[in-house]
Amino acid sequence: MQNMHKDIETILADEATLAGICDRLAARITEDYRDSDKDLVFVIILKGSVYFATDLIRRIPLPCEMEFMKVSSYGASTTTSGFIQVHLDLKRDVHDADVIVIEDIIDSGRTLEKLSNLLADRGAHSVRFCTLLDKPERRQVKLDADYVGLNIPDAFVVGYGLDYDEKYRNLPYVGILKPAVYRK
Ligand code: IMP
Ligand code: MG
Repeated sequence: MQNMHKDIETILADEATLAGICDRLAARITEDYRDSDKDLVFVIILKGSVYFATDLIRRIPLPCEMEFMKVSSYGASTTTSGFIQVHLDLKRDVHDADVIVIEDIIDSGRTLEKLSNLLADRGAHSVRFCTLLDKPERRQVKLDADYVGLNIPDAFVVGYGLDYDEKYRNLPYVGILKPAVYRK
C-alpha cells in the first residue's frame, strides 16, 4: 500500500492550525449560547464533518446533543452535481431547539441552503451554520455560514474528514489533492 501523503500538493491547515480553529470557534459558540434556555442540538453532516465536529464539541462546556444527517451532492467527482439527497435523517424533533449545523466545507452552498429550509420548516428556534472550510469563490446561492474556520481558494482538498472517493479522510491535516490523482 502506498503512503497517502505523496498525493498531497500543499498543506492548507496543519494539526496545530486545526486545533486553533476549533479553540476559536468553540469559544465563540460557547459565548453565543451560554444564556440560551433552549435545547442546543448539533447537527453533524456525515461523513466529512465528523473529525471537526468531535474536536469542536468537546471544547464546548455547555449541555448539548449530537444528531447526524447524511446528505449527498458529490459522488466520485470533484464538482457539484447540483442536487441533494437525504440518506439519513435526524432522530429527534428539533422544534424549538437551537440548532447548529456542522459542515466540513461550503462550496456551491446548495447543501446548506436545502438544509436551512428543511430545519426552518421543522420549527427550530434558531439555525446557524458552522463550517470548517469555506470556498467563497464557488458560491452559487446566497448563503453565509455563521462560524467559519478557514476560507480557502478554489481547489479540491482532502483530509481531517474530507474525502476524494471516500479516501484520505484520515489524513490529520487538510491539503490540496494533486490533480493527477483525480485525472487518472
Ligand atoms: P455544496 O453543496 O456545493 O456547498 O457542497 C458541499 C459538499 O461538497 C461538502 O459537504 C463536501 O462533501 C463536498 N465538497 C466540496 N468541496 C470539496 C473539496 O474540496 N473536497 C472534498 N469535498 C468537497
Ligand atoms: Mg464528500
